[in-house]
Amino acid sequence: MLIRPRRLRKNTIVRDMVAETQFSKNSLIYPFFVTSGTKIVNPINAMPGVSHFSIDELVREVDSCIKMGLTKFLLFGVGEQKTDDASSACDERSIVFNAVKKLKQTFGNDIYLITDVCACAYTTHGHCGILQNDDVQNDLTVPVLAKMALSHAQAGADMVAPSDMMDGRVLAIRQLLDANYFQNTAIMSYAIKYASGYYGPFREAADSAPTKGDRQSYQMDYRNANEAMREALLDESEGADILMVKPALAYLDVIHRLNLESNLPIACYNVSGEYAMVKYAANAKLIDEKRVVMENMYAFARAGASIVITYHAKDIVNYKWI
Ligand code: PBG
Ligand code: ZN
Repeated sequence: MLIRPRRLRKNTIVRDMVAETQFSKNSLIYPFFVTSGTKIVNPINAMPGVSHFSIDELVREVDSCIKMGLTKFLLFGVGEQKTDDASSACDERSIVFNAVKKLKQTFGNDIYLITDVCACAYTTHGHCGILQNDDVQNDLTVPVLAKMALSHAQAGADMVAPSDMMDGRVLAIRQLLDANYFQNTAIMSYAIKYASGYYGPFREAADSAPTKGDRQSYQMDYRNANEAMREALLDESEGADILMVKPALAYLDVIHRLNLESNLPIACYNVSGEYAMVKYAANAKLIDEKRVVMENMYAFARAGASIVITYHAKDIVNYKWI
């Protein structure tokens, strides 16, 4: 007698029945780049299908997303006012602050709004923290991040997502939020963020490339996975609600391992370079976009991510790929 696993692959119905991994639009978070001005929809060359939106246009875009069943959004500010101390990030001067306010006024709890918390869009030098002697100062940066997170919460953000990789910022953010009665504002930590070449298109899109130096002194070395677990478990102990791994495709092993080592929900960020590779290859008719995108989404889910932040989100729901 032969054992024949192929028997269960013979038709779609039985394949669907025995599929071990499920993926639905509940898992999707859609990132947006918001800019100042009005009536602006500026396509980003490096990321086909992604644009900068002014707040008025973003309201329309979010409305159309809600109608398709997308409800969770991650906001990045573009063209923010830049200073050495990133002070404009912490009050109503910031574009993100105003976007959150407007979106929450308009859509209330029909959407779940997440904001990126990092200094790089607000510093003249483009680093993710406060610089002294060409070195990003962890302990000078942490209070700025906490103030930034608080201002986003005051604007109405449901969740803040610190992406800077400073040590101790999750605890500082949690304490400041709690002290100001924002106990229900959640924290999704970019817990494991590697120093990656895959952020290239984003840095063009968000105008956040460092003017000199690189981010290797605070982002992680991709040769390390044990260190990744140490970093992530620290964020868990500091009060993070969700742990994120970034980028996603080259780090499926890290997602898998983190899901085994932590009991928190795991998110992954399918970053700009990963997106651009798929889009450019699909536009050149080298790959079938739908097949490749869904293969990637299921890979994230199979690895252990229950949440996927991806620029493909609108295409996935718009074209009814799931
Ligand atoms: C900045 C930030 C980056 C991304 C999200 N927040 C870029 C970086 O660290 O250089 C990358 C997102 C993407 O590539 O899609 N803190
Ligand atoms: Zn940054």
